[in-house]
Amino acid sequence: MPSETAHTTSRMPKQGLPQNTIIQELEAKLQRDFTYSSGKILCSMCTDPHSFAKQIYRKYLEKNLGDPSLFPASAELEHETVRMLGALLSNPQASGGIVSGGTEANIIALWAARNLDKKMCGEVIVPVSAHYSFDKACDLLNLKLIKVKLNRCFQMDVKAAEKAITSETVAIVGVAGSTCLGVVDPIRELSEIASAHNIYLHVDAAFGGFVLPFLRELGYEPLDFDFRLPGVCSITIDPHKMGLAPIPAGGILFRDEKMSEAVSMKVPYLSGGEMNQSTLLGTRSGASAVAVWALLMHLGRVGYAAVVERCLGLTWKLVEGIQRIDGVDVVVEPTMNVVGVKTGTVDVGLVFQELRKRGWAISLFVDYLRIVVMPHTKSSHVKRFLEDLQIILDNLRK
Ligand SMILES: Cc1ncc(COP(=O)(O)O)c(C=O)c1O
Repeated sequence: MPSETAHTTSRMPKQGLPQNTIIQELEAKLQRDFTYSSGKILCSMCTDPHSFAKQIYRKYLEKNLGDPSLFPASAELEHETVRMLGALLSNPQASGGIVSGGTEANIIALWAARNLDKKMCGEVIVPVSAHYSFDKACDLLNLKLIKVKLNRCFQMDVKAAEKAITSETVAIVGVAGSTCLGVVDPIRELSEIASAHNIYLHVDAAFGGFVLPFLRELGYEPLDFDFRLPGVCSITIDPHKMGLAPIPAGGILFRDEKMSEAVSMKVPYLSGGEMNQSTLLGTRSGASAVAVWALLMHLGRVGYAAVVERCLGLTWKLVEGIQRIDGVDVVVEPTMNVVGVKTGTVDVGLVFQELRKRGWAISLFVDYLRIVVMPHTKSSHVKRFLEDLQIILDNLRK
């Protein structure tokens, strides 16, 4: 477990310090952070970025996509990245941007939905499993969030969603890879409902966007979630999660340009003359977009499929291991590399605390633990985790 540091800094020094001194101090201070290489991080949807993406990111740190007149080539690479991600999600004509993450992407999606509806308020229907970024988005956008229940498979209850539709509904949100269990909502049915009622449908595939497109070729059951479904208006897909890109790198994709124009603002002062901007941020990282472009080109479809195959393979090893331990089980058979673990008669909070004491970073979702098997996770980490879990359960049962 990382240890505490000796002292805190609260003021900039009058005279600057030598770089080596600062590096040493940083090394000491940052020891408390978890590292992906330790294998102890089993709770995060982010990972150690791919080394090539890190190299590219460092090289192009000065690029600013908030000013495309200064960096037109970087802006073009962002367009190409969006098109490549669009093609991955069955729509090479998609428009949108590489943004700071899933939160920003979800906010932009609801912002567009609200503006397209020409309302300054309204309601948004989400499953209770939706990420809290939708709470943020609705708070910011003066929208009312309507949370509907899940069915027995932990997916959005489609009937409940349809029942929740009113004349005030500006959007329905389906999740393709829920934060808590990696579950995919019935997006096909949601698409049909959204089309029938002429309502905007956003799909949050922040996590699943880099997993679901590969299921078919890996021999897993494919799931409909993308632009192939005619009701889907926008999709969040985050390169800084399963896309292996450096943070910050989220993605917001719209079915067509008209939708992204709904959030377009004029920027009057740039050197290239008046321009339109369709992101929440002004100044924003061009290095992020360029690094995603480079990594998509480097790994290609085969490379990303291999990453998913490895994570899913390890996920199933973890599931088998959990099922071999007396008294614990998975909450639901995983669709992707996210596993919920219930602890039967043993208090889940205590198991969580004991795992933390042994240095494991996992998540606690009210009555179950969540483990995310990311590209930094190795077979040896899964084995050690299962051994510790067994010991903890044995001790707690004594
Ligand atoms: C499904 C989903 N959507 C959105 C987000 C928010 O992403 P970010 O933390 O990059 O803003 C997350 C984060 O885990 C998520 O799981």
